[in-house]
Amino acid sequence: MKKIRSQVTIAIDGPAGSGKSTVARRVAEKLGLLYLDSGAMYRAVTVLAIRGELTTDSPELLEQVKACHIQFKDNGKTILLNAEDVSHQIRTPAVNRRVADVAKIPEIRHEIVKHQQRIGGEGSIIAEGRDLTTIVFPNADFKFYLDASVTERAKRRLAEFRRQNVEITLAAVEAEISDRDEKDKTRAHSPLRTADDAIVVDTTDKTINEVVDFIIARVSEDKSTSEK
Ligand code: C5P
Repeated sequence: MKKIRSQVTIAIDGPAGSGKSTVARRVAEKLGLLYLDSGAMYRAVTVLAIRGELTTDSPELLEQVKACHIQFKDNGKTILLNAEDVSHQIRTPAVNRRVADVAKIPEIRHEIVKHQQRIGGEGSIIAEGRDLTTIVFPNADFKFYLDASVTERAKRRLAEFRRQNVEITLAAVEAEISDRDEKDKTRAHSPLRTADDAIVVDTTDKTINEVVDFIIARVSEDKSTSEK
């Protein structure tokens, strides 16, 4: 395992299916960093909205968000919502359809961002999502923006659904992620955008390992973070 010196924060943003989660998890394993899947937190909150049949802007939902406990286990593989394992439930098509509407509510984002910054203060971290390079960790040591064509991203998501035995067509997945891209990029609060100081990586024709190696090379070549 490569080691990097002192506390380091790596932030990655990008649209659904750009490879952020898989890449960040592998970099975390290789460099011994904490992995923060920020989208999982918005997904967990969406589970609260669906279960309670609450509208995204309802005061009840905000109260539940303020009171809930979201925890990660196994370096991000398992997510607990009020001690219940919701790791599978947060990945369902129903949550996919709803999550961007929940995530656009500023008061909800405020709560989630506070939580993310607390986690970030605990040590070296690699965090990924939509506003990690711009809002959550604007002073991150390294910033990356991962992107890929919408068709390639839809194919990757379809493969994930197949592995989970979820019946869905490529066209439906493509429509869902295009809709989510549009909502995430055009919302008034913390929209998905490329930070001025982020390194942009088009992953369309790259393997996961190529992107992982690229990020590790950038982090390791920086003398200030390499272990002496
Ligand atoms: O990354 P993932 O696809 O799991 O994120 C699900 C949704 O959560 C995104 O489409 C977006 O609406 C929201 N999100 C966000 N800010 C983040 C991470 C995710 O608004 N930092």
